[in-house]
Amino acid sequence: MATQRAQTKTRGGDPASRPYRRQSSSSTIFSVEKERTALEALRTQSQSNQLLGWFPPSIPLNMAPQVWMVGEDGEDLKNHGELLPLSKLQEIGVLYWHLDPKKPESEEELAKIRKDRGYNYMDYLDIRPGKLANFEEKLKNFFTEHMHADEEIRYCLEGGGYFDVRDKDDKWVRIWIKEGGMIVLPAGIYHRFTLDAANHVKLMRLFLGEPVWTAHNRPQEDHPVRQEYVKRLMDDNAGLALAAH
Ligand code: LAC
Ligand code: NI
Repeated sequence: MATQRAQTKTRGGDPASRPYRRQSSSSTIFSVEKERTALEALRTQSQSNQLLGWFPPSIPLNMAPQVWMVGEDGEDLKNHGELLPLSKLQEIGVLYWHLDPKKPESEEELAKIRKDRGYNYMDYLDIRPGKLANFEEKLKNFFTEHMHADEEIRYCLEGGGYFDVRDKDDKWVRIWIKEGGMIVLPAGIYHRFTLDAANHVKLMRLFLGEPVWTAHNRPQEDHPVRQEYVKRLMDDNAGLALAAH
């Protein structure tokens, strides 16, 4: 596993020119209408999260994604190369399932997840040179730290890639998604994406309601969805602190 990881490199353009540090406020103009829809979705989502719990059901360990800490550039860190437990994802509200795109049972499982969580919208994103228009530019944007007003839901059908998410200490946690991996990043979490050494990925994108793909680059501390997310993290921490006494 370690060898495999060591061979993989962060893709996404020339690392020297890649904007990875905190961005000044997003220049994206989003309409009031879209924002309202997003907030409505957040409310529905909070309700469904309450229903389902913040955490996904436990999954067999051999199907768990590989998760480890990386640096600001996505580089492996000396002395921090070990794989992290799934609880690392659970504590920041990231959900993960392992499905098998080749097995009919997975169709049912996917249908159930979509029904339970209200993911009515679906499309595909094929990220590979020559297939995706403006490949380099898009990769650069994917790797720029951002958040969305909604969940980011991706099911990997082919290839692989890295979803980096900020943990509670504001460090990067890298999640290696491969064929069969399905991930939900909560609304308001700071994250970024890049390809693995295979240099391509086919993702199913799911969404609750009318899709809004707007990326809000960090910092977004005044964004209501960000505030809601941070509040949930702190509430969770308070719960843990109480349990420890
Ligand atoms: C996104 C892809 C890469 O960020 O999942 O939309
Ligand atoms: Ni995103």
